[in-house]
Amino acid sequence: MSAREAEPTPHSTPGSSPATSPGERPQSRAFLEARGVVVEFATRSGSVARALDGVDLAVAPGEIVAVVGESGSGKTTLARTLMGLERPVAGEVSVGDRPMPRSTRAMRTFRRKVQMVLQDASGSLNPRQTVYESVAEGIRLHRLADARSGTAEADLVAKALSDAGLRPPQPLYLRYPHELSGGQRQRVLIAGALAVRPDLIIADEPVSSLDASIRGELLALLLRLRDELGLGVLVITHDLGLAWNIADRIAVMYLGRVVEQGPTEQVLEHPRHPYTQALLSVVPEIDRLEPQVLRGEIPDPTRIPPGCRFHPRCPALAEGESERAGVADACRGVPLPVLPADDRHAAACHLDAVRHAPGTPAS
Ligand SMILES: Nc1ncnc2c1ncn2[C@@H]1O[C@H](COP(=O)(O)OP(=O)(O)O)[C@@H](O)[C@H]1O
Ligand code: SF4
Ligand SMILES: [Mg+2]
Repeated sequence: MSAREAEPTPHSTPGSSPATSPGERPQSRAFLEARGVVVEFATRSGSVARALDGVDLAVAPGEIVAVVGESGSGKTTLARTLMGLERPVAGEVSVGDRPMPRSTRAMRTFRRKVQMVLQDASGSLNPRQTVYESVAEGIRLHRLADARSGTAEADLVAKALSDAGLRPPQPLYLRYPHELSGGQRQRVLIAGALAVRPDLIIADEPVSSLDASIRGELLALLLRLRDELGLGVLVITHDLGLAWNIADRIAVMYLGRVVEQGPTEQVLEHPRHPYTQALLSVVPEIDRLEPQVLRGEIPDPTRIPPGCRFHPRCPALAEGESERAGVADACRGVPLPVLPADDRHAAACHLDAVRHAPGTPAS
């Protein structure tokens, strides 16, 4: 049973955002796509944590998509699921319009095409491996070097390090991670990913442990890799400012769901979901929104609130806006549909649905 079936979408309620039924879906142009993905974890107390509760997300070739949301919203679980490291209990992940492979051999090819770059470069690099060995590892695993055809291992290592902005690469070959700066370590990780010529890089909080100037350089690097190599990039971050700088599209996650998604400019200049509005209001570079500090913590995914999962913290509900729009009961009791992964700007919010209903003047 799919997630969409598991939680019926209230098409006729005030909360129904535009949702497409599976049969109506256009042919996907995505390279990697999640549809209705549900991932659960058993907790020590015996309850079930629904870390992903019906997520649709697509990344097209050469596209940069940012997934944003507070800590605990399910971003890393989504990344791991897209890499095939977590198996969904419902929904599916497809790669180039085919289901995620299951056989070890096909999985190995998939792992070459989709590379993950993790947040903590010092923890992700083997401290006993030189830079050369780290970058060569994937090349050896996937048997990409072939001296007879002119692709010697050392050339591939040098190219990957250069592509990652470490030029000239040779002086770094025999260095160990502890001899590098934080920015260099992150670039070595990116080089290791690039060395196997992926189609897509999934970067989980790639710059959050780095200082501002290095962050800027690394973001510029991701943009250049997209432009020069046509790489698709899925960037996971809690930093909306970062997403603004590089992403073509943004998906905002809250408690295991995408609650708003669309082209970056539209989502960030005209945020429609109260959660996105609150996150944006505290981004230092943006001063046109009244700062809104969200009350409380993101709930535990073993106890997802009924109705709109954001309702216990929603400023629009707390301040009476939902009441005035006649949707307060729906906020507390009517679940919202899974947002489809397409190019349109959409939000899963009862208030937004009333405001954007056909015939409503644009606010
Ligand atoms: N292996 C796991 N076992 C139990 N709960 C988990 C596991 N991984 C993640 N979770 C829970 O799933 C939720 C989402 O976590 P995560 O995907 O790491 O979010 P984010 O990356 O957005 O911070 C959290 O409540 C987290 O505690
Ligand atoms: S207005 Fe209602 S539906 Fe929209 S985010 Fe707030 S609680 Fe949820
Ligand atoms: Mg995370």
